[in-house]
Amino acid sequence: MKPTVAPFPLTRMRRTRQSPAIRALVRENTLTSDDLIWPVFVRDGEGMEEPVSSMPGVLRRSVDKIVEAAAEARDLGIPVICLFPYTDPALKTEDCAEAWNPENLSNRATRAIKEQVPGIAVMTDVALDPYNINGHDGFVEDGVIVNDRSVDALVKQTLSQAEAGADIIGPSDMMDGRIGAMRRALEAEGHKNVTIMSYAAKYASAFYGPFRDAVGASGALKGDKKTYQMDPANTDEALRLIERDLNEGADMVMVKPGMPYLDICRRVKDGFGVPTFAYQVSGEYAMIQAAAQNGWIDGEKAMLESLMAFKRAGCDGILTYFAPAVARLLRDG
Ligand code: PBG
Repeated sequence: MKPTVAPFPLTRMRRTRQSPAIRALVRENTLTSDDLIWPVFVRDGEGMEEPVSSMPGVLRRSVDKIVEAAAEARDLGIPVICLFPYTDPALKTEDCAEAWNPENLSNRATRAIKEQVPGIAVMTDVALDPYNINGHDGFVEDGVIVNDRSVDALVKQTLSQAEAGADIIGPSDMMDGRIGAMRRALEAEGHKNVTIMSYAAKYASAFYGPFRDAVGASGALKGDKKTYQMDPANTDEALRLIERDLNEGADMVMVKPGMPYLDICRRVKDGFGVPTFAYQVSGEYAMIQAAAQNGWIDGEKAMLESLMAFKRAGCDGILTYFAPAVARLLRDG
């Protein structure tokens, strides 16, 4: 469809920008608390809230404090909270067995939220990196990240999260074949309504740095993730990954990082018409916060503008560390 523009002065584009009321009337996209998924970091202990220095405003919380945060998020109208564990380095091993321990931090937090905060959905992360001695998302054998054995472990991790009560499983590992293997296992074990949001188009990105600090994986990581995460130069490959994961049983798909990959979001939404999400990752958050703290940009306005960009690009929702701040701002005007 070609937009119609009569010649000036029949058309004056500024007419529809002249007042807040007229601008509101013609606004094409909206951002609401319904669009938000809030990623949080879980640590051990009780009554603990510990700042993450590379992510100003973000805390690692013990399970009791995560429950409080989940209740606050629910009251703000945020539909989903997404858990990432900060694992005690002593529990990191080569076999990553802590990943499917029913009593690990992520599973304990899931159960506590499901018991105490009905009404908010819990999303969990499937990948071995928080538990792996070398910081990789899959097993490493002779310096190579191996695929199929990693998938078997990821399936065990998925089932332990489903048993703890996770509503949304978020595989962020980028191994091949994992969505199908998880879906078959979930069906076989009676978890028919557990949804999968696949990190389908996840790029090997420099913007994950602060997250790796937050989960304590920076020191551990040997090498890079380029043999499993995508090359930032590629687009068509993202569409193939999305199609594959949908065919294997993903309910929703994600593009990650967010703002540097808005073109991918748009192509995914236009190409498949499925629930499409973007992850505004730690580095994107840290950049906005750092500039705001220096007085170089208006942090609140930049936050809102950055999130509206995802809606404009076709996303149904955004994983963002800004979730409670933006929900509060949207509520209070
Ligand atoms: C790893 C994982 C990462 C993020 C989410 N899950 C980092 C990585 O792939 O190294 C990044 C999130 C962020 O930067 O906010 N499974």
